[in-house]
Amino acid sequence: MTQRQTRRQFLSSGLAAAAVWPLLGSVRAARFDADPFALGVASGSPTTQGVVLWTRLLFADADPAPADSFSFAPAPQHPPMDVAWEVAEDESFSRIVQSGIETASEALAHSVHVAVDGLLPDRWYFYRFRCGDALSPVGRTRTAPADDAGNARFSLAFAACQQYEQGWYSAYRDMAERDLDLVVHLGDYIYEKSYGAQHVREHGTGAPSLLFEYRQRYALYKSDPDLQLAHARFPWLFTWDDHEVVDNYGGDGSPTDRTPASFLKRRAAAYQAWYEHMPVPPLAAPDFGDFRIYGNHRFGTLLDLTLLDARQYRDPAPEAPQPAELSRYTMLGKVQEAWFDRTMREKKAHWSLIGQTTLLSARDLELGPGTRYSDDGWDHYRSGRERLLESVRAANRSNPLVIGGDLHAFYAADVRTADGDLVASEFVTGSITSDPPAAEALDTVMAENPHIRFGDASRHGYSLLHLAPEQARVELVAVDRKDPEATASIFEEFEVLDGVPGVTRA
Ligand SMILES: [Fe+2]
Repeated sequence: MTQRQTRRQFLSSGLAAAAVWPLLGSVRAARFDADPFALGVASGSPTTQGVVLWTRLLFADADPAPADSFSFAPAPQHPPMDVAWEVAEDESFSRIVQSGIETASEALAHSVHVAVDGLLPDRWYFYRFRCGDALSPVGRTRTAPADDAGNARFSLAFAACQQYEQGWYSAYRDMAERDLDLVVHLGDYIYEKSYGAQHVREHGTGAPSLLFEYRQRYALYKSDPDLQLAHARFPWLFTWDDHEVVDNYGGDGSPTDRTPASFLKRRAAAYQAWYEHMPVPPLAAPDFGDFRIYGNHRFGTLLDLTLLDARQYRDPAPEAPQPAELSRYTMLGKVQEAWFDRTMREKKAHWSLIGQTTLLSARDLELGPGTRYSDDGWDHYRSGRERLLESVRAANRSNPLVIGGDLHAFYAADVRTADGDLVASEFVTGSITSDPPAAEALDTVMAENPHIRFGDASRHGYSLLHLAPEQARVELVAVDRKDPEATASIFEEFEVLDGVPGVTRA
């Protein structure tokens, strides 16, 4: 494409109004053989005045390896590229409110993270990127309501566990059609390993351990059009679970890596690739050996969302679950626990949503007398659970709600302390695609754990949370993960009433 053609295209699409475009040097010079925006666009971390925009330039020769190869070749070198971005009030970009240029470089996989500021609260905005002759898809995003907004409605979707081989992402196509303010992803965004039967598609490469391998895996997952659709439609927030790095890791301990030192290298590579593919705030001085992702996000007077990191700082799992009074084992780490306690006391909205990776409530897995617990969940860190619940209880939060994922089953539970005090209501979302546990295992959970009020491991999909001052409503959405054309349906609804902890079927 010549410069003249480029300029005419700018004029015809109304882009000439943006002062930024004529300044682009390498942006205009660059040409691509294939669409560099093939991984789509995304936004996240909404605040009252801004949002983070994301994309990553993908080069044709760095595409995900074909399914039959097991590639150890690093991606070839590409120079730094200028990427222009625009934010507008309207989808046709006639009212542009912010624009700029970011340099995308190979050190961070040509990813782009733009922290847009100076926007108005509680508004939809549209955004797009340009690099050379390539224009990205248009994304839509929304800022958070002002802290004192008195907002009466907020809807979000929460999702987890999307093993690429085990199903299609039809759940995300359905999600994209809904009227939502936010999407929260609770972990297992990628899977490092292949497992299970009846795959609908293949990773095509083995478990990643090096940076370029994790990048390939993310690029493969993010090439999915339905996932891209949901990212382009709403702002997202995240925490991660284990499969973003390796199954069942905790802190510097991994079941599959020989030494903490070698594992920490692998973990840093995985964290870097995560950063490079997520719409999370840009890092001025990235240190993927110590990467804080936990935080508190406010949405007016109605909602504040605390997202926890249950992997990076956890003690290696103790041999057996510890009685609360005997143990200092921690899933969150001392620093995050102290931060959580402060946050509970200081940041109070009407609904206090706590997003973490898995089921917070106790879950006895042994049918009949005796008890048995997962060695990867809160039951192995029960003193940490008690401290977390004590922070919630002591802060006197009006309506604590807990959401999680990880278990590949939908659960609704009354969250109780070890001494039986009902503190919060909990919802665990089923997997987008990942294989479920056996039906008998779910039956045992339901028989042994009366505080778990609902469980379903037969369905896949995601969950919706609709908040109003008087109630929270949770809808569970199911979709046939093996059918690429599947449509979704709501199969169960719950209510939590204002001031009344505990789950009620709607
Ligand atoms: Fe999972």
